[in-house]
Amino acid sequence: MSVNDRPVFVLAGTGGGDLRSLEDYRRVGGYVSLEKARQMGREAVLEEIKKASLRGRGGAGFPMGQKASFLPSPAQAHGPIYLVVNADESEPGAFKDREIIVRVPHRLIEGIQIAAAVIGARACFVYIRGEYLSEYEILMAALAEAEGAGLVSVPIIVHRGAGAYICGEETALLESLEGKRGMPRSKPPFPAIVGLYDSPTLINNVETLATVPKIIEIGGDAYAKIGVKDSTGTRLFSLSGNVVRRGNYELPHGTTFRELIYDCGGGISEGRKLKAIIPGGSSSPLLTADQVDMSMDFDTLQKAGSFLGSASVIAIDERACMVQLGLRIGQFYMYESCGKCTPCREGTRWIETLLRKIEEGRASHAELDLLVDVCERMLGKCLCPLGDSDAMVVASYVTHFREEFEAHIDQGGCPFGGSSSLEGVRSPVDELYRGRVRQEAAR
Ligand SMILES: Cc1cc2nc3c(=O)[nH]c(=O)nc-3n(C[C@H](O)[C@H](O)[C@H](O)COP(=O)(O)O)c2cc1C
Ligand code: SF4
Repeated sequence: MSVNDRPVFVLAGTGGGDLRSLEDYRRVGGYVSLEKARQMGREAVLEEIKKASLRGRGGAGFPMGQKASFLPSPAQAHGPIYLVVNADESEPGAFKDREIIVRVPHRLIEGIQIAAAVIGARACFVYIRGEYLSEYEILMAALAEAEGAGLVSVPIIVHRGAGAYICGEETALLESLEGKRGMPRSKPPFPAIVGLYDSPTLINNVETLATVPKIIEIGGDAYAKIGVKDSTGTRLFSLSGNVVRRGNYELPHGTTFRELIYDCGGGISEGRKLKAIIPGGSSSPLLTADQVDMSMDFDTLQKAGSFLGSASVIAIDERACMVQLGLRIGQFYMYESCGKCTPCREGTRWIETLLRKIEEGRASHAELDLLVDVCERMLGKCLCPLGDSDAMVVASYVTHFREEFEAHIDQGGCPFGGSSSLEGVRSPVDELYRGRVRQEAAR
């Protein structure tokens, strides 16, 4: 199938413009699936979601139908059941949920109402990234219209986050929603049993829920025929980095990186060479240019030692210094570590310190080995995947580009000599951090 001839589900109908108003959304069949789902009943709807094998689009790829089955039925539950929608989208490289909210907010609302009915939710909470102000306003306007038209039978409360990446992790999100500091909880118990306000809670990503109306429309079996085995349906791939046309592309799972980067994205800018691919947002281990023909699906990426994660693909061209790239990502994780567990709180700082020494030509070969050792020691010891991600990602940079790390040590500085595309590019959090250090020093 050519990329021009692909099925479009989540963004269906947006070819002629955004579908923000209820009238526009209804014109492309909007809210017909909600009506159909109400007639089918909760068990039958859940069955279709299971047949579709819909895997979560937020990162972990857990099947939605299976997760929803873990919740007690409303009759068995001691108290209310909640649906929580994860719209935090803070992973560097990820920008798909905002496009769904901006272009088809009613499809998300429709998916939320269907899922809420499946689990018998008393209320739904959307936790939206604080920086997404216009997205929030668009969602609120659509919600008001849907409520006015009598389409919202389970109340939806929209809550704005305050800018912490960790609040995208589902249990930190619940803590934050409850008004506490956003720090992950130990699991088990999982949110399906003990979630928001200790009640059974289903947490799903925006894209996962915005996919549900299409599954109800075409049926789970038909949906499962799109994509590849165990990675069904379409995916909104966020393509960024050194490509000609950055943006979100809805493509079936199983499309290759080459098709995304070259056919959709127009290839690497100014004819330069591809050097590496970040396949699933900053928390996914790196791929090299020779893996460009790999299929973009959950299992293939996992077999290759990486993750599809949030399907945020970043193309890196030959001008990038991989130590600088690692350092930039390391700074992000160090800053965003919530500090609850020691391996991550201390490990992310060690990683950043060692990477900085290597970049500045002040490190020894023993310190490069120490960097790898710190990564290995962190792995599997952190309370949530944030610490593990930093360790895995940085280790993958060293594995694939060790000679570049060694050249920094041997030459006593960056071998790119100031020509790296990342030269002087610091993460915003690094600027904040340095600003604070300067202020403290001046006091
Ligand atoms: C550090 C961290 C950040 C995360 N950020 C997000 C996020 O912004 N959005 C999201 O949907 N999931 C995020 N996740 C994954 C959630 O914990 C959770 O798996 C997801 O919301 C479940 O929804 P899904 O099954 O529909 O993917 C994050 C996980 C971690 C460890
Ligand atoms: S791994 Fe990091 S972010 Fe996660 S709980 Fe531990 S300190 Fe917090």
